[in-house]
Amino acid sequence: VMNQLNAPLVLASGSSLRNRIVKAAMEEQLAGRGQQPDDRIANLYSRWASGGAGLLITGHVMVDRRAVAQPGDIVLDSTSAIDPFVTWAKAAHVGGTKIWMQINHPGRVVQRDTKSLAWAPSVVPIDAGSFSSLYPVPVAMTSAQIRETIANFASTAGAAERAGFDGVEVHAAHGYLISQFLSPLVNKRDDEWGGTLENRARLLLEVVAAIRSATSPGFAVAVKLNSADFQRGGFDFDDARQVIDLLETMGTDLVELSGGSIESLATSGTPTDGRTLAREAYFLQLTSSLAESAPVPLMLTGGIRRGEVAQAVIDAGFSLVGVATALAVDPTAPTPWLRGQDSPIKPPASRVIRSKMLRSAAVQASLTLHLHHLARGRQRARPLPPAIALLRDRIRRGAQLRAYRRRRTA
Ligand SMILES: Cc1cc2nc3c(=O)[nH]c(=O)nc-3n(C[C@H](O)[C@H](O)[C@H](O)COP(=O)(O)O)c2cc1C
Repeated sequence: VMNQLNAPLVLASGSSLRNRIVKAAMEEQLAGRGQQPDDRIANLYSRWASGGAGLLITGHVMVDRRAVAQPGDIVLDSTSAIDPFVTWAKAAHVGGTKIWMQINHPGRVVQRDTKSLAWAPSVVPIDAGSFSSLYPVPVAMTSAQIRETIANFASTAGAAERAGFDGVEVHAAHGYLISQFLSPLVNKRDDEWGGTLENRARLLLEVVAAIRSATSPGFAVAVKLNSADFQRGGFDFDDARQVIDLLETMGTDLVELSGGSIESLATSGTPTDGRTLAREAYFLQLTSSLAESAPVPLMLTGGIRRGEVAQAVIDAGFSLVGVATALAVDPTAPTPWLRGQDSPIKPPASRVIRSKMLRSAAVQASLTLHLHHLARGRQRARPLPPAIALLRDRIRRGAQLRAYRRRRTA
C-alpha cells in the first residue's frame, strides 16, 4: 500500500507542505519578557522541525495583551519586538518544515486572577461546574470593540508574515472568542453579530477577510473550527458544514476540524484504553462525510497516536492529519509513521484523579511540563504522572502570573 502520509500538498495560496502530518497547536506557556518568545521556544520548534512533521502550527498567540488565556501565553501586537518572532520562525524552518502561527483572542475564557479583559458576545458566564468561579462574568462587546479586535487579528497576522511565518491559523474553536460568537448558547446578540448563522459567523469571516488584505497572496490562512461543540443547542455539525462553505469563498487555505469547548471537555475526553480506529480518531466517523464534500482541504485533529490511524484519516478524505498530544510526548513521533510503521505513542493518563475536569487539567499540565523540558534541551523518557504535574504546574503558573500582572500594571 502506498504511504500517502508522505505525499506533498500544495494549498490554494501556493504554499506547499512536504507531507501530511501537522503538529497541531499547543499553548506552550513559555512567554518570556514582554510576553515574547525566547530561546526555549526556538529549541522546542527546531526539535519538532527535525521530528518529521511537514507543518508546525504554533500554540495560540494572543492578539491583544490585555487578554490572555494563561499568564505564560505569547502576545504579538503592535508593541511587540519582531526579532524574537523572526528567531522562532527560523528555528522551525529546518529541513523545509513550514510554520504557521495560531492567533487567538480568549474572549470570556480568561481566569479572574490574570485580571484580563473578559469580553464576550453577550453577558453569559462560563459554566464549568465547580470551576466556574475561576472565570469572571464577561462584558458584552461593543461594535467598536468588535472592530478593534478584527483589526488586531489582521495586524498580528501582518506581523507574523513580516517575521517569516508561512501562514496563520485563526482559532475559531474550543470556546474562545470567535467560537463564542459562533455559538447560539453564548451569542445572544440581536445586532448584525448575532442571531442567524450568517451573523454569528460574521466575526470569523471579517477576521479572515481583514487578514487576507493585511498579508500577501502567498501567505496561508487557515481556520480551526469545532466540528460540533457537543452541547445541546450549541454550534452543531450542520453549522460547521455551512461555515466551511462560507470560508471557501473568503480564500481560506485549510480548515482544521476539532471539537468541544471548555464546557464540554470533548477534546480532552480522548480515549486512552480502546484500540479501535474509530475510538482513537474519535472525530473520524463524525467528520468524514464533511471531508467528502468540503470545498476546501480539511485537517482532522484529535486522538491520533499511531501511524495507522494517521493513514486512516487521509484514506477518509482529509488532506492533513493534526497531532498534538503524541508530539508533546515524543517530538519525533512522525518519523516512523512516515516510513509506514505504526509506532504508537502512549499519552499520560491518571487513575487516581476522579473528577473528569481535574483529570483533564492534570493531563494538560503533564504535557505542558514535558514541553518545557524539551524546550530546555532535556530528555525525559515519559511525561510526569498527571497528579504530580498538576501541583508543579500550579507553582510554575504562579510565577508567570506575578510577572504578567507586573507587566500589565507597568
Ligand atoms: C498541552 C496542550 C495545549 C493545547 N493548546 C492548544 C492551543 O493553543 N490551540 C488549539 O487550538 N488547541 C490546543 N490544544 C488542542 C490540540 O491542538 C488538539 O486539538 C487536541 O489536543 C486533540 O488532539 P490530540 O488528541 O492529538 O492531542 C492543546 C492541547 C494540549 C495537549
